[in-house]
Amino acid sequence: MKVKEESPDVKTFTFKLEEGEFRFKAGQFVEVSVFGVGEAPFTLSSSPFDTEKFEVSIMRVGSVTSAIHRKKEGDVVGIRGPYGTHFPLEKCEGKDVTIVGGGIGIAPLRSLIYALIHEREKYGNIKVLYGAREPRLIVYKDLWDEFKKHVEVYLTVDFADETWKGHVGVVTTLFDVVEINPKDNMAFVCGPPIIKFVTQKLLELGFAPENIHLSLERMMKCGIRKCGHCNIGKYYVCRDGAVFTYDMIKDIPNPF
Ligand SMILES: Cc1cc2nc3c(=O)[nH]c(=O)nc-3n(C[C@H](O)[C@H](O)[C@H](O)COP(=O)(O)OP(=O)(O)OC[C@H]3O[C@@H](n4cnc5c(N)ncnc54)[C@H](O)[C@@H]3O)c2cc1C
Ligand code: FES
Repeated sequence: MKVKEESPDVKTFTFKLEEGEFRFKAGQFVEVSVFGVGEAPFTLSSSPFDTEKFEVSIMRVGSVTSAIHRKKEGDVVGIRGPYGTHFPLEKCEGKDVTIVGGGIGIAPLRSLIYALIHEREKYGNIKVLYGAREPRLIVYKDLWDEFKKHVEVYLTVDFADETWKGHVGVVTTLFDVVEINPKDNMAFVCGPPIIKFVTQKLLELGFAPENIHLSLERMMKCGIRKCGHCNIGKYYVCRDGAVFTYDMIKDIPNPF
């Protein structure tokens, strides 16, 4: 296991297989466990086309995430998965793609961006809109210039400091300055605080509900539809998600 610090409270953990391949699709998650502490779900953030290693990017919020953050290169954690549904890449072929992430919500979308870039010629215009609270909380700082060679990237922060020369405002304010044509455009959104407001914006712009793909977070325990913890409406986020279209969840009270 390798560890990289992305921001003061986010680290990316890289797991390399000694033998065999780890296959997953962008949007799927794994359960990571620390012996004696517990287990928690995290979406894979690396390229699904790289089957020799996989990565998760983890924000420290509580007991399991703090225990994982204390792990050093070479330490061992338990992994089970991959689980859940994925971002439907095949739906994006020949279409434009709009990716909107907030905070650590960019982690699953990083996997999607890698996958789209891997077969860049299959897709139309790709725009990535990402917002963090402050410049120091932006994750993947060394990756954005690389991504800009292949896709359009728009970054924003809620609160600027003297180092920040870019856009200021919550991620939805980027919709006022970035031109987005909703026709034949597939949207992908993740980030608990922003997901509701971004979905509203996309609907106002004219995106079809079935073209808005949301990676939802719910409290989980088993990850395999046994405990009922992650239930929303008729769905279980661990098995029927975590990727849903807005069309699937729009009639569920408070789906976010
Ligand atoms: C499908 C899925 C994918 C996820 N992917 C990622 C990821 O890629 N990177 C990442 O950093 N996190 C991700 N999460 C969230 C992550 O699982 C939680 O942060 C983790 O379970 C917290 O565990 P803990 O023991 O550290 O916190 P706890 O000690 O359990 O809780 C600390 C605080 O965080 C709150 N909390 C715990 N879990 C959640 C949650 N899921 N949503 C909102 N608040 C919560 C608790 O209410 C409490 O206030 C994902 C969650 C799901 C369901
Ligand atoms: S986490 Fe147990 S049913 Fe989904």
